[in-house]
Amino acid sequence: MAEVQIKELCKDFGKVRAVIDLNLDIQDKEMICFLGPSGCGKTTSLRMVAGLERPTSGEIFLGGKDVTHIPPKDRHIAMVFETYALYPRKTVFENMAFPLRIRKFSNDEIKAKVLEAAKILDIEELLDRGIRQLSGGQRQRVAMGRAIVRKPSLFLMDEPLSHLDAKLRTRMRGELKRLQKDLETTMIYVTHDQLEAMSMADRIVVMNSGVLQQLGTPDQVFNKPVNEFVAGFVGDPPINFIDGQCTEENGKLYFQNAVLKIELPEKTASKIREKCPHGSLHMGIRPSYFKLHHERPDLPSMPAEVFISEPLGEVLVIDFLLEKKIIKVVTSPDVKANMGETMWLSFDFNRVHFFDAQSGAIIN
Ligand SMILES: Nc1ncnc2c1ncn2[C@@H]1O[C@H](COP(=O)(O)OP(=O)(O)O)[C@@H](O)[C@H]1O
Ligand SMILES: [Mg+2]
Repeated sequence: MAEVQIKELCKDFGKVRAVIDLNLDIQDKEMICFLGPSGCGKTTSLRMVAGLERPTSGEIFLGGKDVTHIPPKDRHIAMVFETYALYPRKTVFENMAFPLRIRKFSNDEIKAKVLEAAKILDIEELLDRGIRQLSGGQRQRVAMGRAIVRKPSLFLMDEPLSHLDAKLRTRMRGELKRLQKDLETTMIYVTHDQLEAMSMADRIVVMNSGVLQQLGTPDQVFNKPVNEFVAGFVGDPPINFIDGQCTEENGKLYFQNAVLKIELPEKTASKIREKCPHGSLHMGIRPSYFKLHHERPDLPSMPAEVFISEPLGEVLVIDFLLEKKIIKVVTSPDVKANMGETMWLSFDFNRVHFFDAQSGAIIN
């Protein structure tokens, strides 16, 4: 059993507050991704779970046991880093056998365990090769192999795919997720790549500046972001933000700026009145949530000029110009959009997020 509980965990490096008050309950057999920009405290958090970094304050429990002051080797954890740290002079077999040799397993046991891991990772035919004869993807598998031979109850991975090329990364993503489910282990996976987190995680921890912003399923962080940071970090192409001010006219609330004025539905309006009385807002709409029209539709919409259109095969990405800002729209390749043409972008209010322009907090 490897549930992980992290309680009020903090880490300061001198004046740098790397991790601030992290609270997190990870379930047994769960795949959790820590996602956030470089320097937000992902690696430091992971290293504290592994026991490689001493917390400034807070506690860590593994399988219900307080391990905050227990050395790494007694935590039954395996960690795979961004750089694989394999022994270049040893064979694949010996690299994978290493953690078992230092734990004094017999030769027969070692052989059986390495073969089993190699089979899972589909690298049986590589066992006699030297590390230098392997491709990046193969080396990554050996690093995984070395981690899984011990059957740890908790896997920690710190950007393990970041040195692989794009195609291999996509494949390894799927394989890793499969591996984690097959091995039935708990995994904490650190990445700055939102696509990696979205595609692999059961739940994602979005971090920024040492602070947990949101803990949720990929669907929750994508469709129900708690603030502007999460909304902007998850999704590719990223969500569009449109700045505007709310104005009250004859009991109705309008969202407006120099080029548009949109009447807000009563449900949205009452939330804005309640939570954001200053009325200065950012409206967030994801690129795939617009509909395009050549004529003004009888729907909430805004006019914008086609700046560039990029046919990408399955989808068409159009950059529109709206008040000197680019609005990205992902649409069907059948749509005809001529450069310079003004089109109308309509949207469904259920798909629109409003954020307080001052605090970044979600309003609706
Ligand atoms: N050993 C250290 N000494 C001083 N500052 C550190 C150390 N390790 C990390 N930091 C700082 O802590 C913050 C978080 O770093 P890190 O956890 O590595 O972020 P991430 O993995 O999300 O990129 C950064 O500001 C980083 O510079
Ligand atoms: Mg890091």
